[in-house]
Amino acid sequence: MAIYKVGVVGAGLMGAGIAQTCAQSGYEVVVREINQQLLDKGLARIYGAWDMMASKDKLTHRQVDENRTRIRGTLDIADFAECDLVIEAVVENMEEKLRLFPMLDHVLKPDALILSNTSSLNITQMGAVTKRQDKICGLHFFNPAPVMQLVEVVQTISTSQETIETVKQFAISLGKKPVIAKDTAGFIVNFLLIPYLLAAIRMLENGMATRDDIDTAMKLGCGYPMGPFTLLDYVGLDTTMWAAEAIYEEYKDPLYAPPPLLRRMVISGMYGRKSGKGFYDYQ
Ligand code: CAA
Repeated sequence: MAIYKVGVVGAGLMGAGIAQTCAQSGYEVVVREINQQLLDKGLARIYGAWDMMASKDKLTHRQVDENRTRIRGTLDIADFAECDLVIEAVVENMEEKLRLFPMLDHVLKPDALILSNTSSLNITQMGAVTKRQDKICGLHFFNPAPVMQLVEVVQTISTSQETIETVKQFAISLGKKPVIAKDTAGFIVNFLLIPYLLAAIRMLENGMATRDDIDTAMKLGCGYPMGPFTLLDYVGLDTTMWAAEAIYEEYKDPLYAPPPLLRRMVISGMYGRKSGKGFYDYQ
């Protein structure tokens, strides 16, 4: 199946990054938000990234203009009607996804694909509220989406092989390396990454080492680009907690139980970089 026009639902950190990636790879993109303020913020993030790339000679000014003409913001879900493929990147809340999927199913062409960027929620459940379960799968990007090379293509028990092949080719056309994962909580990366991040928080809670020493140790000792607390702030403490809860819900393995400190920081609005404060202060 040929993909020409792509829809992205949500223009937050991930939605904006995904829309940016698709537009700069040559696709016509429609990106939808729930109000004008959020839409303007998302588009400004994308335009800012292209301006930054132009200032580093990674894009010409002509390419920036061309990218801009390929992307259109909307508040109306009906504007996805002509899309061949839609990627949802709304808040990590199953109720929201279960409200969204039937609406997309209703608006989209019968052969259009619906992909979820969820990091750990059950995609089979999202597909089950549509009449096109064979055309639903996960396409999980990593933050920052325009930079990170990996995407997880997540196959539910109902996703057809044809859908998986189309999505794999689509991911390659975005310059990404796709890996295939089954629809089990956490897929590949978060199944391994979340226990590591939660263990770092438990070390801090138990006074085993300082925040800075834990970060330095993993950066220099393991060659990771960021230590766990820098990464937690980068990914978002709220996002990490939702992912941990979703995996814990599936396996009831204490490795995935959010530590008390994480829960309290999220309750206090300390989400990391995006809120100005997390394990570090960004104000
Ligand atoms: N568009 C285009 N380019 C961008 C960009 C964007 N939106 N954001 C950053 N870049 C570019 C920068 O311009 C820079 O380019 P140059 O090297 O050519 O100058 C490059 O990306 C690197 O950025 P920085 O110089 O700002 O910073 P850095 O060298 O420290 O790298 C990083 C930043 C890529 C984020 C690196 O620190 C890293 O890889 N960190 C780990 C990130 C990670 O693990 N992400 C996965 C998190 S898990 C997740 O997302 C899944 C989940 O479900 C929770």
